[in-house]
Amino acid sequence: MDRRDDLVIVTGGSSGIGAAAAVTLVEAGFRPLVVDINVLPSDRRDSRILYWETPLDVGDETSVASGMAEIESRFGVAFGLVNAAGILGKMHLPARVRMANWDKEMSVDLRGTFLSCRAVGERMASCGRGSIVNVASITGSTAAPALAYAAAKAGVINLTASLACVWGTNGVRVNAVSPGFTRTPALEAALEAGVMSESTLAQAAALKRLVDPTEVGRAIAWLIGSGSSGITGVNLPVDAGVLANATWSIYDAKLV
Ligand code: NAI
Repeated sequence: MDRRDDLVIVTGGSSGIGAAAAVTLVEAGFRPLVVDINVLPSDRRDSRILYWETPLDVGDETSVASGMAEIESRFGVAFGLVNAAGILGKMHLPARVRMANWDKEMSVDLRGTFLSCRAVGERMASCGRGSIVNVASITGSTAAPALAYAAAKAGVINLTASLACVWGTNGVRVNAVSPGFTRTPALEAALEAGVMSESTLAQAAALKRLVDPTEVGRAIAWLIGSGSSGITGVNLPVDAGVLANATWSIYDAKLV
């Protein structure tokens, strides 16, 4: 079976965290292959990164199965997979949640992660090696007003641990990162629309700032690579300390 030990498939790599992960993977010595529903125009591409020319919808079983099979026949079995394709969730009271939006968020964020993991992870397992990083979110571990999104991300964290157990005997590691509020086009759009306030988000973090996509990319590249060889099934927050600060801030302590 043909395998390519530097190839890392990055879903959602045309923008934001996925794009930053592709760059940090290059710097770590890997050859990333970006797949996305929106294929980047050639004038916005990085010559060190491969780009899959056919749009791939991670929520569509046929699109994922046929796309990943074509990628394998062209390049060989990938060493790594980063599932960064995702859509940020809408915030509504339960009574106002539109089930079409619920289904869309579940389809991309949870089903899409599973479909990509399955298509690529099974092949990695037959090669006896591989490393997968799923991009979850701090909303997967805490209450959040984007109900479907947070539930989908909690699902991603759980799925990550389960798949780590399934493929552990085959030498395939599966981990997750949980970004906090990260300055990507998706978040910038929410800030511009007034859905969230930058100063409130920054104040919620122990570091009192947002996360840069490159910081998430570096954590992803580390989890993909051999530097984290003893780690599987974990969920690593990359959140500038939002989770740590959540209970700390309740005390409003004036330390002396
Ligand atoms: P982004 O919108 O900048 O990038 C997302 C990419 O996914 C885009 O290139 C988009 O075309 C692609 N995509 C969307 N639907 C797709 C589909 N059905 N099939 C294939 N590709 C698809 O968003 P961002 O912020 O970089 O988000 C990346 C991941 O990080 C998402 O899973 C998001 O939930 C997660 N995340 C982001 C946070 C943030 O503050 N920006 C915080 C926590 C998690």
